[in-house]
Amino acid sequence: MSTPSSTESESAAILGAPLVLPSGVVLKNRLVKAAMSDSLGDGAGNPSIQQARLYERWAEGGVALSIIGEVQVDSGFPEKPGNLVLGSQSDDALLRQLTDAGSRHGTHVWPQLSHAGALAHLPVSQPAGPSALDLDGLQCDEMSVASIEALPASYAGAAKHAQSVGFSGVEVHAGHGFLLSQFLSPLFNRRTDHFGGSIQNRCRILLQIINEIRAEVGPSFAIGVKINSSDQLDGGLTEEDALVVVSMLGEHGVDLIDISGGTYFPGAASSSDRRSAGPYFLDFARRARTVTGVPLMVTGGFKTRQEAADAVSSGAADVVGLARTLALDPSLPTKWLSPAGGDPEFPRFTSPPPGGITAWFTMRLDALGNDAADAYAATVDEAVDVYDSRDAARVATWKQAFGETSGS
Ligand SMILES: Cc1cc2nc3c(=O)[nH]c(=O)nc-3n(C[C@H](O)[C@H](O)[C@H](O)COP(=O)(O)O)c2cc1C
Repeated sequence: MSTPSSTESESAAILGAPLVLPSGVVLKNRLVKAAMSDSLGDGAGNPSIQQARLYERWAEGGVALSIIGEVQVDSGFPEKPGNLVLGSQSDDALLRQLTDAGSRHGTHVWPQLSHAGALAHLPVSQPAGPSALDLDGLQCDEMSVASIEALPASYAGAAKHAQSVGFSGVEVHAGHGFLLSQFLSPLFNRRTDHFGGSIQNRCRILLQIINEIRAEVGPSFAIGVKINSSDQLDGGLTEEDALVVVSMLGEHGVDLIDISGGTYFPGAASSSDRRSAGPYFLDFARRARTVTGVPLMVTGGFKTRQEAADAVSSGAADVVGLARTLALDPSLPTKWLSPAGGDPEFPRFTSPPPGGITAWFTMRLDALGNDAADAYAATVDEAVDVYDSRDAARVATWKQAFGETSGS
């Protein structure tokens, strides 16, 4: 048996070091399961048994924090009808089952508080964003000032609810082209009032939301924010503006800034479908480090332990966000924290359709939640078919639970 090199032992030690967040929440190591919309809700906004099992598997695998993607604060604007919703319809016993399972072995679980805005799932919503848009593949209404001003209470109510059922923090989703990312982006946000124009104005609602969440949950509950380093789109959020956002977040009691990029704008590149080699956003993270003292999470493109350890040891990241890697192997943290290590093998996709890789990984999460991942052998096309038909089948359940389009 070969003995691990000191580099391997060092990598394990770097990633195994605990991190205390400003709220006092302690992450036991530097590996975080990044938000993934697992679409394992029951179609009426509550968790399923498979979903609890999925988060239990990540907890068993040794991750420090699992972030549940796309947990909606308003049932009228979901990303998908498999999302969870924190609201009056919530079954708190089921939510507790999920947090109990996901929090085993000292793992933290946070919901990613979301509102899809202009990108809300059409059959169950009437999409609305900062500005009305009528583009190829994207039509939405403009939100009224009253409905914008109602957002902080809606996010804060959801955060309070999350706290009451055993989550130790929340991540506010302000990335990937969903509502708060739309406010930050000049491409979506063409408002001329105090919510549009300068980056300070475009960031106003996000900061109000964070203030209101903090007032509601108190000082020892963690608040993370996921932002785009840029929209990677002509006319979208630039890195310069994103640095201003980072700097402003630092003045608002945030625990963790999760750095990502790209959007689900029609025809645009999304991070979850990207195939380029190596971590995606480290250069921006290094720039962000110069304007904030808030701990930074960098998410996107990490495939090997060496990449993760280098990101932390170089000071670019405090924690590393892993999405597809942890969908391939939920026990990866245990491996990466032991000297022997072991990196997952990534599937090779030839000419996948747009969204195909994301669909393939979503269906892999389904297999993990059913303890059936060993038998998961879907092609991308098969995964897309099952993914789409499962969503279509849930529309009726969603409408029964929440009404035709129940948004504000
Ligand atoms: C199946 C799947 C679902 C995702 N859902 C979300 C989500 O709900 N919220 C989010 O912020 N990012 C989501 N992402 C993006 C990931 O968090 C991450 O930013 C992206 O996949 C790049 O990281 P990776 O290279 O580690 O996969 C999703 C990714 C995948 C693969």
